[in-house]
Amino acid sequence: MTFYIETYGCQMNERDSEEIASILLMDGFFEVDSPDRADIVFVNTCSVREKPAQKALSATGRYLKSAKNKRKIVAMCGCYAKQEGERLKERFPDIDLIFGPQQIKDLPNLLKKVICEKQMVVDVSDSGYLSKEKFYKSSNAVSAFVNITKGCNNFCSFCIVPYLRGREFSRNSTDIVEEIKERVSLGVKEITLLGQNVNSYNDDLSGVDFVRLLEMINDIEGLMRIRFTTSHPRDVSDRLIESFKYLDKLCSHIHLPVQSGSDRVLALMNRKYTRDQYLRVVEKLRTVRSDMSITTDIIVGFPQETDDDFEKTLSLVRLADFDTAYSFKYSPRPLTKAFRQFQDDVPPSVKEERLRILQELIESIAQRKNKELLGSTMSVLIEGNSIKNLSQFSGRTSCNRVVNIEIDNKYKKDGLIGKIVRVKINESLKHSLKGEIIEGEKDEKGRCCGNIA
Ligand code: 5AD
Ligand code: SF4
Repeated sequence: MTFYIETYGCQMNERDSEEIASILLMDGFFEVDSPDRADIVFVNTCSVREKPAQKALSATGRYLKSAKNKRKIVAMCGCYAKQEGERLKERFPDIDLIFGPQQIKDLPNLLKKVICEKQMVVDVSDSGYLSKEKFYKSSNAVSAFVNITKGCNNFCSFCIVPYLRGREFSRNSTDIVEEIKERVSLGVKEITLLGQNVNSYNDDLSGVDFVRLLEMINDIEGLMRIRFTTSHPRDVSDRLIESFKYLDKLCSHIHLPVQSGSDRVLALMNRKYTRDQYLRVVEKLRTVRSDMSITTDIIVGFPQETDDDFEKTLSLVRLADFDTAYSFKYSPRPLTKAFRQFQDDVPPSVKEERLRILQELIESIAQRKNKELLGSTMSVLIEGNSIKNLSQFSGRTSCNRVVNIEIDNKYKKDGLIGKIVRVKINESLKHSLKGEIIEGEKDEKGRCCGNIA
């Protein structure tokens, strides 16, 4: 049987989809790249904001409609599936399977019930996570995600994640290191450590905390780059900032959601830091690495947000000089404190206007910063061909810029993939850079480059 997975939401969901795929591949299923050719379609849903939740719902409706004559199995999983559970049966009476993030490892059993016993199955229970993650696709990817924590204890007042993904749980550090070593032996060069709040990673058994974990991973031979996401500003310790000085594989990028620039709104959001504390962290990070790229998430139109609060967000964005930022209109999410206790009182038109102004500012800073890179030479890890243009290689800088490079005949097509090359940046586009390879140059740490023809 064949399957297709459509994924909405964050990198955690992408990682979950990868895990679903590897479990099914090991069970003898085949993955296809189009829903039309699949016997089973999975919609991996997201519930963090209204928009991705709605998108996943319409996709499910579409697949169920097209499945009617074709005996296709349609399954919903992920956070929205967990949030709604049995209720989804009312909306989609023909759905075959609904399961939550905690049921992924039980998928073969759930599918057996659906396929062999022709049952409609709903399982969104809190069955807890296993600490060992054995499953991943043996693809030839250069870059891979590795979960280090799951769940969250922070309870920011707007956020549904702690209710759906449960309390924070740190995986065993030895398991993490083993998994990364195995992946490196399969060709992975860069890993991104994943968690809702990676900075609070703490393996109680071994006493390994986040910085120690980074040190252990930095020692893994053959691994070239380490990234992590997401960080909570309150938990970025001076020790973590210092570690950027001596961990040579750690990339110069941190995603540090600020959410608002107003102390009053930050308190209502239960974020547990002030704008000044946040800006101090930004300053220290840029001091420790001059090329540090700092990106963020911002919510506009949180309950009670005034024009003055919004102005403070704009001023923080200017001061922090973000490399880029993701911005969202507040949408009330069930179960959360903001949903239960605050009126969603900022009118939609005001939210819309604030988002427009904010995005314009973010865009102008991002473009200026990209332009500043013109003419410089940067180290780029080549990940593969550009999705949009097959005659180009695509890779990323340490500071997480996508760089596309025209493929020259003298480079063997696959020879460059997984290598770090030095690239002279000669064009700055809206969301990416373009450049050409400079041969024979070593990177700033004297690593990895050399001739690559
Ligand atoms: N409304 C709008 N944006 C939200 N986010 C999380 N919950 C909400 C919500 N209820 C945003 C935050 C978070 C990102 C993943 O999604 O900015 O960092
Ligand atoms: Fe949600 Fe806050 Fe936890 Fe992030 S830190 S997942 S925003 S509760």
